[in-house]
Amino acid sequence: MSVVIRSTGSYIPERRIPNEELASMVDTTDEWIRSHTGIGARHVAADGMQTSDLAAEAARSALKKAGVDAKELDFIVVATATPDYLGFPSAACIVQDKIGAFGCAAFDVTAGCTGFIYALDIASSMLEAKKGRHALVIGAETLTRVTDWTDRSTCVLFGDGAGAAVLSRIDESGRGVLKTMLGAEGASHKDLVLVQAPRTKTFERSEATVPKIYMDGKNVYNFAVKSITVLMQRIMHESAYHLDDFAWIVPHQANARIVQAAAKRVGVPEERFFMNIEEYANTSAASIPIALDEMSQKGLLKRGELIMLIGFGAGLTYGATVVRW
Ligand code: ACO
Repeated sequence: MSVVIRSTGSYIPERRIPNEELASMVDTTDEWIRSHTGIGARHVAADGMQTSDLAAEAARSALKKAGVDAKELDFIVVATATPDYLGFPSAACIVQDKIGAFGCAAFDVTAGCTGFIYALDIASSMLEAKKGRHALVIGAETLTRVTDWTDRSTCVLFGDGAGAAVLSRIDESGRGVLKTMLGAEGASHKDLVLVQAPRTKTFERSEATVPKIYMDGKNVYNFAVKSITVLMQRIMHESAYHLDDFAWIVPHQANARIVQAAAKRVGVPEERFFMNIEEYANTSAASIPIALDEMSQKGLLKRGELIMLIGFGAGLTYGATVVRW
């Protein structure tokens, strides 16, 4: 028996904001953003579009490719830091309604940018425990709604989007989700926090009080590089895998410099880390499934090949999953 990622889907909002446009709003330049982060643009959800709308679009695409009807789903897990409502209901319940997956279990997971890795582990463990046959795992964010557009140190980093994966339990063995490691450093939780704060200027919006991202960039940078390095080393140490066995490493798309530093430390060529941050910026829990869907569309994911997904983010949380495609 295996739990496989049967298909992927994604949704990227049409509205694209290149660095040059941001440079007309805050004191920054395309050169600074590119050289410090690798980001060239980000996409912003249309007014009236909620996180669940982005998630439902990605879900419909993944379900269509899988040939699985929404009614066949046994549960839906949404990883998000920006659900439609604060606290409740979950984005997953709203997605269930929007895609017509009536009656199945639905819940959200909060683990910052590591959310998709946590959600994937929960879903694959539930399927392995035979609590269903098909699951939908989504990472979806509208981070630009909680971005302070007057703060150049954070507003250049984030974007909106959603990615989804249909997971199925199959009789074949040795494929799919093979191994996962999860962890957290709660003592550093203050390094990356979504706080309520008054806002003086918004991006095409006019709320008076909205959430705002506080981040200790240097601490998060160091944590991220350490997380990627340690996770890769621990997976090699605790399993029979060798770094050369992996066709692709798919990291959370937070900053190209983080990935370059980690690649150097572990001695893996940078080209083996899939990156698409230049176009989408950091979409938090959505970044890994969006990357997977882009890779799938480009034919980069070959049946039988090993890949490793690596996340790190608010909490501070970290996690990695080994998948045989
Ligand atoms: N444009 C121009 N100048 C800027 C900008 C900007 N957008 N932002 C900061 N600066 C300035 C600062 O004011 C500072 O100026 P000063 O020297 O006159 O004081 C200078 O640039 C250097 O600032 P630093 O904060 O030291 O810049 P650094 O090289 O550390 O890069 C960054 C900042 C990109 C945020 C980096 O710390 C980083 O990558 N951190 C990791 C955090 C991350 O990626 N978070 C994403 C979300 S969390 C996650 O997904 C896990």
